Amino acid sequence: MVVLQVVVTGGAGQIAYSLIPLIARGLVFGPATRVHLRLLDIPPAAQALEAIVMEIQDSLFPTALEGVLGTTDEVRAFEGAQVAILLGGFPRKPGMERGQLMAKNVGIMKRMGQLLERHASRDCKALVVANPAATNCLVLAANAPSLPRKNFSFLSRLDHERMVGMLLEKANSVLAAGTASHAVRSERLRPADVRGLCIWGNHSDSQVPDASSVEFCLNGNWVPAQTILGDSPWLKLQDANAVAGAGGGDYLSEAVRNRGAVILAARKLSSAMSAANATAAHLGDWLCSPPTGKTVSMGVFSDGNPFGVPEGLVCSFPVQCGDLSGANRGGWNFDSDFRLTEDVSRQLAVSVAELEEEREMAFSILNGGQSTPS
Ligand code: LMR
Repeated sequence: MVVLQVVVTGGAGQIAYSLIPLIARGLVFGPATRVHLRLLDIPPAAQALEAIVMEIQDSLFPTALEGVLGTTDEVRAFEGAQVAILLGGFPRKPGMERGQLMAKNVGIMKRMGQLLERHASRDCKALVVANPAATNCLVLAANAPSLPRKNFSFLSRLDHERMVGMLLEKANSVLAAGTASHAVRSERLRPADVRGLCIWGNHSDSQVPDASSVEFCLNGNWVPAQTILGDSPWLKLQDANAVAGAGGGDYLSEAVRNRGAVILAARKLSSAMSAANATAAHLGDWLCSPPTGKTVSMGVFSDGNPFGVPEGLVCSFPVQCGDLSGANRGGWNFDSDFRLTEDVSRQLAVSVAELEEEREMAFSILNGGQSTPS
């Protein structure tokens, strides 16, 4: 029997608390995969880790978990890991700048990269969720140079899912009110009835939530979003720095960009349940589902093509997971059929400039003032 070795950093944290049951129920790596879970956290969280291991035992999860290790020993956690889920980092507090967050987190990511390099499986797949996720991912990969670059990713799926959820909410309310220009459908649209969107760029306010090609599946046929929503300004991409509805949702793009901050302000904690679900969806599509041809948003290394983002930068793109032959689990390709509109292209350039700035800042922090990767 094959057992997948999975390390989760920040194992006693909020996102892990929502993610563990998904893994343990076979909802991330599939019901046929047994998982040995290593939950890593820092020494002050040791007791909390012990309690979580007790709770896992008490939860009587059916079959997906082969074993659990709650540990503060980084080497034990990373030894032979085949999947690394990087949730652990210094959390953003309300009002905290990204630069301040970066100073706290790049050192952590450097150490995690060194652990991957020295102790993980040579084909380990890594997903970075901890913020600033894109730059953390870059630092992680730079410190694990013997692992293939295609094995590194960061989470932009949460933004993608937020956008799907908002599109559904809007379309279903129009359908329920019976004001759509086409035949009214009695059933509610579901997540699988939305396609053609992408989050481009950084996981930050500069991200580009692109709804220019969104389609809904209405009565079995794919139709442009406008068929239901009309020629609504809500769908138009706003400039990231435009002052509009203060996150209230005058525009879809604005609401998606601000969703994390709105939740953080209300909960006094970052999104955790939705982040865990997006993590599960990202990993499930990437590593477990048979190739579906579905396009998802995923933060990955650019190879310079096909969207013109400089080679070597980590950025969110439209991606299709899985080798089409099915032979290579964990393969992905850019969805090169996805067309960049002029507007999206212009805003992506702004987000790319921010990513380049973050990279500069991160490596300058790590190298004590020099900006090139060491
Ligand atoms: C989110 O998108 O909810 C988080 O990444 C926000 C944050 O900075 O914690």
